[in-house]
Amino acid sequence: MIITKDYTQLSERAAELIIDHMKNNPSLVLGAATGDTPKGTYTQLIKKLNKEDLDLSEIKTVNLDEYVGLVSEHSQSYWTYMKEYLYNPLNLSYNQAIIPNGKAEDLHKECERYEQEINRLGGIDLQILGIGRNGHIGFNEPYTPFDSRTHVVQLTENTRKANARFFTGEEEVPERAITVGISTIMKSKSIVLLASGQEKASAVQAVLNGQVDGAWPATILNNHPDVTFIVDEAAKNG
Ligand code: F6R
Repeated sequence: MIITKDYTQLSERAAELIIDHMKNNPSLVLGAATGDTPKGTYTQLIKKLNKEDLDLSEIKTVNLDEYVGLVSEHSQSYWTYMKEYLYNPLNLSYNQAIIPNGKAEDLHKECERYEQEINRLGGIDLQILGIGRNGHIGFNEPYTPFDSRTHVVQLTENTRKANARFFTGEEEVPERAITVGISTIMKSKSIVLLASGQEKASAVQAVLNGQVDGAWPATILNNHPDVTFIVDEAAKNG
């Protein structure tokens, strides 16, 4: 576990860790989270990569989730986020991005396709995770089975409220999302969980207690052999 004094330091440490993985594995499969927390990490990553001479053309990113019903060009789709925070600044080819299609006609087939796509890539090498105030990882809300694979979820009212800040109002937040499952996440070779800010303190505390508890999905990470928690003091101490 790495405790940083603030969000900036958290972002720097996470970016350094990602770059180490990129150096060791030019065809890294990077599991990408969206949301506010990793924005600083991606910004630092871009800054640091601009000073390095790394070939990123074989790297793939695999997103954790996508809203159901948003076209990929929607300003709040996770594909728009990826373009803004990673793909365009790094000049990556869009072919390197794997992301669920929230507009698929058959969502269950889409989930199956996504799971197979991850397997075809040999699994996720390094999974970056944020954490919800309720301990969710991806959009795996409390009591999601630990053996879940990629699936469609009904977002909880709390999560829709928390994400309303990205939309014009809560009613604009989609009700459903496609998310990779908890077992998909747990199959990642390495995992980095980022938590910043006081509002994450209860979830972080649940994880650091060491008990695995379905009420706090992120607690399952205690069973993973290679997880780095990077949390700032506010998230650690509340
Ligand atoms: C995002 C995701 C979510 C977020 C979590 C925290 O792809 O899967 O689990 O990581 O909701 O979001 P922020 O960072 O906005 O507080």
